[in-house]
Amino acid sequence: KAMAIIKELEDKCGTPSAKLRQVADAMDVEMHAGLASEGGSKLKMLISYVDNLPTGGEKGLFYALDLGGTNFRVLRVQLGGSENPVVKPEFKEVSIPPHLMVGSSEALFDFIAAALAKFVATEGEDICLPPGRQRELGFTFSFPVRQLSIASGTLIKWTKGFSIKDTVGQDVVGELKKAMERIGLDMCVAALVNDTVGTLAGGRYNNPDVIAAVILGTGTNAAYVERAHAIPKWHGLLPKSGEMVINMEWGNFRSSHLPLTEYDQSLDADSLNPGEQIFEKLISGMYLGEIVRRVLCRMAEEAGFFGDTVPSKLKIPFILRTPDLSAMHHDTSSDLKVVGSKLKDILEIPNSSLKVRKVIVKLCDIVASRGARLSAAGILGILKKLGRDTIKEGEKQKSVVALDGGLFQHYTKFRNCMESTLQELLGDAYENLSIIHSNDGSGIGAAILAASHSQYLQAEE
Ligand code: BG6
Ligand code: GLC
Repeated sequence: KAMAIIKELEDKCGTPSAKLRQVADAMDVEMHAGLASEGGSKLKMLISYVDNLPTGGEKGLFYALDLGGTNFRVLRVQLGGSENPVVKPEFKEVSIPPHLMVGSSEALFDFIAAALAKFVATEGEDICLPPGRQRELGFTFSFPVRQLSIASGTLIKWTKGFSIKDTVGQDVVGELKKAMERIGLDMCVAALVNDTVGTLAGGRYNNPDVIAAVILGTGTNAAYVERAHAIPKWHGLLPKSGEMVINMEWGNFRSSHLPLTEYDQSLDADSLNPGEQIFEKLISGMYLGEIVRRVLCRMAEEAGFFGDTVPSKLKIPFILRTPDLSAMHHDTSSDLKVVGSKLKDILEIPNSSLKVRKVIVKLCDIVASRGARLSAAGILGILKKLGRDTIKEGEKQKSVVALDGGLFQHYTKFRNCMESTLQELLGDAYENLSIIHSNDGSGIGAAILAASHSQYLQAEE
């Protein structure tokens, strides 16, 4: 019976190339629809107001806040200009206490402002700005925001583990400024960016061929450089560069071609945001472990997979985390020691048999491969939209995609599967694609965008 459950799961999670191509085509279609009109698609295709990507020549001392991944970060970056473009950020990482993710807006922003104030208060004498200058900051806020300008925007909805009613519809920069005022911290927010947009900017700073950025972490999303002419819903001035970075919010993509199972449906129904972020719930780090837990639960209940009783720990939502999944999936020992100890330590299942452990590795593989292959299909969708998915005669057009996020960084099998799927889907055109890891790119990118939107820039020019 247990094997029948696994077999059924494997069939339903299947992602043959033909299906992935349908997903990529649907992504391409939805991208057009989302660019055509506000509310035209589940894909919000948000205008970032970043129309001038970094050149590498940005200069000066800037700060960044990075909120929305596993950890909250405060960074300080010294940009050396074109003579010395290498940046070595200094940063402080803190985890957001879980109660603040579902509490009040004021409490969350007070916490952030306090961390920033502490960071600034403890800096050495060697850190100094030209006299009379305010410190300037790039704010990476990794949630869907309707930008009003490069440095302001209202929260459309929370995603991932956050849910704070009174922030929705508010300008998040306004919320941050109020919190800074409450503690007397004098800093100016020069840029508000999504983590994908920050990663794209950080990637472009080092490599002019970067055309898109993808986050595979707690959540998943992508941003890319679009021609301003191809954005019918944009009624503003045509940017000088002719380009605009679009935050796709691809986590909210959905299509009838997505291989959804009963486990995905129940996970969605029990989530903080039912009916939303369906693509994200199939791919990202917040959910992979939970999908596996749900399958194991059914196997325990209906097939006695762990013996006569259902282990009580197995009933606790989110108890299996994606790093645990990754550790089990990468277990190369002959007796699958790691799987055994995870079962014992997390689920309190001692003495599991090798047979049980093998089934679990298989389960990890089914769920992670589906996510990895779907993320490859998403990237193919972007390349299609940009006409970069085939080799044009006589043209060698390099497309570089910058990636970041815990899933990409730490889950090797996920990353390898995503890359080999891209190769499978692109064929010869794979040669023109490079996937690079942009470590901490989004915080650095936000600081660079703060530099290029600094209030002091015009005075200097
Ligand atoms: C980090 C970026 O490296 O990756 C963040 O600096 C981003 O901006 C994060 O949100 C996403 O990964 P995770 O795994 O922390 O959600
Ligand atoms: C979620 C957020 C999105 C972010 C992504 C990766 O999908 O909605 O804004 O980019 O997670 O952190």
